[in-house]
Amino acid sequence: KNYVSIGLLGLGTVGSGVVQLIKNHQEDLIHQVGCEVRVKSILVRDVEKDRDIQIGQTYLTTDANEVLQDPEIDIVVEVIGGVEEAREHIIQALEAKKHVVTANKDLIALHGPELQKKAIENNCDLFFEASVAGGVPILRGLSEGLSSDRIQKLMGIVNGTTNYILTKMDEDGLSYETALKEAQDLGFAEADPTADVEGLDAARKMAILARLAFHTNVELEDVEVSGISNVSVEDLNYGQKLGLKMKLIGHAHIDNQQLEVSVQPTFLAKSHPLAAVKNEYNAVYVNGEAVGETMFYGPGAGSLPTATAVMADVVAVVKNMRLGVNGKSVVAPRFERVLKTPDQ
Ligand code: NAP
Ligand code: HSE
Repeated sequence: KNYVSIGLLGLGTVGSGVVQLIKNHQEDLIHQVGCEVRVKSILVRDVEKDRDIQIGQTYLTTDANEVLQDPEIDIVVEVIGGVEEAREHIIQALEAKKHVVTANKDLIALHGPELQKKAIENNCDLFFEASVAGGVPILRGLSEGLSSDRIQKLMGIVNGTTNYILTKMDEDGLSYETALKEAQDLGFAEADPTADVEGLDAARKMAILARLAFHTNVELEDVEVSGISNVSVEDLNYGQKLGLKMKLIGHAHIDNQQLEVSVQPTFLAKSHPLAAVKNEYNAVYVNGEAVGETMFYGPGAGSLPTATAVMADVVAVVKNMRLGVNGKSVVAPRFERVLKTPDQ
């Protein structure tokens, strides 16, 4: 066949962005991969739901097997979220020799190594660029752009919802509740925003980033976490008087031979480059031994920015399909690093 067929799991904020991007940028995609990219079927919870998106010939289903067992589908894109069901769908897809692209950091933080092993066993690709920092190509930045370097330190704003809330509380005087509601309405927050505001979403992303940057296994429980749910407008006003901005900062660095990974609300000097990152934007500062200081910056959440990262993975899968090298891109962890645990 002269096209690539996608089975989409989920048609929410990210899934709709993927459908829209494929429709609007089809010519660019053809130029990149040499053939048309089509979405054949989409798994949803409710096929009757009113949706703003035009899906053309694509059909909706509530039966995952119609997507996962369809021999015509080459690539499964998982954007339903959650852990267990998504994990089962991805395993089923890989066992059916379908390549998988996911935006699911909860799943990758918890089961990434196991799923990557499964992908390699089946000669399939498993890519997850959208799982960290939305539209910012930080995973490829680390695993390709900076692959020859030795990373010393990572520091970043990796959750769009909390950065949106802190910005709106600080600059517009919005209450925490109103700012959170806005972030939810704009599609930035998780289905249950507790993971955003308690720092867990950022912790999952820092675990994924630290694995790539420091070439080692990092478990979620190795990350020290605190969120922003107790931060008040008064705290931010106090910071303003001292020339400081509060940000939810993820940090990973080697200290005394130990890798330390944390997520914490942190006051930064207004002159600090991360203090200028506003709303749902994310930024990751990376300090490499050879490259020195680099900064990756852009929209960390939202429909089209996240879809851009998902589609970058789809393009990478199709290029690998053309070269016949799928399932070969994962590099095993190089080091057994000692991790400083939160209670140390
Ligand atoms: P969402 O808006 O809540 O959409 C979820 C979609 O999945 C909906 O279409 C829903 O169906 C479907 N779905 C959920 N559970 C299902 C199930 N058990 N069976 C069948 N269909 C199911 O979520 P989202 O914001 O697009 O996020 C999707 C994933 O991307 C999550 O892993 C999230 O962490 C990640 N992500 C999101 C963003 C962002 O900015 N939103 C950015 C980066 C990564 P119905 O439409 O029928 O309800
Ligand atoms: N809820 C996440 C955030 C979505 O606000 O950053 C992007 O991963």
